[in-house]
Amino acid sequence: MRRLSKPHLLTTISRAAQTHPLRTALRSRSSRDTREGADSTFEMELTVGSDGKKQLIDGLNEDLRAEFQAVIMYRLYASMVQGPYRQELRTFFANEIPEELMHAQILADKVAALGGTPASTPAPVTVVSEAKAMLEAALKAEIETLERYVKRRAQAEAMGEHGLAAQLDTLIADESNHRDELRQMLARWP
Ligand SMILES: [Fe+2]
Ligand SMILES: [Fe+2]
Repeated sequence: MRRLSKPHLLTTISRAAQTHPLRTALRSRSSRDTREGADSTFEMELTVGSDGKKQLIDGLNEDLRAEFQAVIMYRLYASMVQGPYRQELRTFFANEIPEELMHAQILADKVAALGGTPASTPAPVTVVSEAKAMLEAALKAEIETLERYVKRRAQAEAMGEHGLAAQLDTLIADESNHRDELRQMLARWP
């Protein structure tokens, strides 16, 4: 194993901190604060106290509705997909479902633990018939989900919900993989 010298190690840690999602979120807030006054939307997301808790519950419920949407979307696409790649895509879409359901479980458990009521309706599902349009709609949904989880993680940290922040790291890693796989399939789509 290569041993890093102390200055090198510090540079590596500092570089990692620069790109950490929490730091990115907080940095963008502080630069906006000094550049053009506080941004009301972003400011709201990092509010602490009882208002912050309500906002966190509302945000987690938005995330939960999107996970329910993902479960339905992948189920529909797995059943509906046609064409020469049906078997591969059917397997791919179907294999996403257990992971998205697990995400829904994590979010619903946390909303309930925070004293809220978990959302019971999905966000609207984009229904399309062509395989490529399915992959594109799934990619769009995964990217939007990923962006929300990066923000939600900063919100959780600001609220002192470190366990939730750690769980969101797992969700961020999962959704990044989903995004990357979808991008790889679309990159050479005929
Ligand atoms: Fe998910
Ligand atoms: Fe996903």
